[in-house]
Amino acid sequence: MPDFVVTIDGPAGAGKSTVARVLARQLGVAFMDTGAMYRALTLKALRQGVDLKDAQALTALAGMSVIDLVNEPGQQLKVLLDGEDVSEAIRSLDVTNNTFYAARTPEVRHIMVEWQRVLGARRSLVGDGRDLGTVVFPQAKYKFYLDADFDVRCQRRIDELKAKGQAVDEKALREDLAARDHRDMTRAVGPLRRADDALLIDSTHMNIDQVVEALYRRITGKQEADRSPAGRV
Ligand code: DC
Repeated sequence: MPDFVVTIDGPAGAGKSTVARVLARQLGVAFMDTGAMYRALTLKALRQGVDLKDAQALTALAGMSVIDLVNEPGQQLKVLLDGEDVSEAIRSLDVTNNTFYAARTPEVRHIMVEWQRVLGARRSLVGDGRDLGTVVFPQAKYKFYLDADFDVRCQRRIDELKAKGQAVDEKALREDLAARDHRDMTRAVGPLRRADDALLIDSTHMNIDQVVEALYRRITGKQEADRSPAGRV
C-alpha cells in the first residue's frame, strides 16, 4: 500500500486514542496523538508559570519547544517535551483541564498543524484529534469521526481512572467533559467537526475491538483474522 494517512476525530472519551493506537499497530504504521502535543505545551506553560491566557506568550513558548512523538515497536507511544519523557505527566487533571487555552490559540494551532503535516508527509500514520479530517489532512485517504453518547463517554473515563487506582469525583468529571465538549465545538479555529467525507462511527454500543475491526475492514477490505500467519479465518 502506498503511504497513507488515517484520521480519527471526535469528542473526548469516544475512545479515539485507544482505537488509533491499536489500529496503527495492526496496520504497521505510526500513531500520532495530536492531543498529546497540545497537552505537552500546556504542561510546559504550567511548569514555567506562563499565563495560559496570554496568546503571545503561549505562541512564543510553542516556538521554543520541541515536542516529539516516538513510536517504538512493542511500546506505548512516547511523548517527549524538549527530550524529556512526559507521557504520564501530560495526563494529569490539571493539564487536561487547562489544555483548551493552547487549543484555542490560533498561532499555537498553526505551529501544531504544520508539525503534524511534517509527520504525515514522512510516513503512513493513524492520527487522532479534533481537526485532522477538516484542517490538518483534508486530503487524507481514510477519515473517521468517532462518537458516543455523553453518558457512555463519562462512564469510560470513570472506569479508566478507577482502573488506574485513582479517586474519581464523578460529578466533577461530568462537568469537565461537558465543558470540554463545548469548548472543542465552539472555538473559532480548528473546532471539532465531522469532515463531510468522514465516516461516522457511533461507538455507544461497541467495544474497542469492534471499532478497530470496523475501521480495519473499511481500510483494507479484509477481516482482521485474515492476517493470521496461516492466512485463514
Ligand atoms: O484528545 P485529548 O483529550 O488528549 O486532547 C487534549 C486537548 O487538546 C483537548 O482539549 C482538545 C485539544 N485538541 C485539539 O484542539 N486539537 C487536536 N487535534 C487534538 C486535541
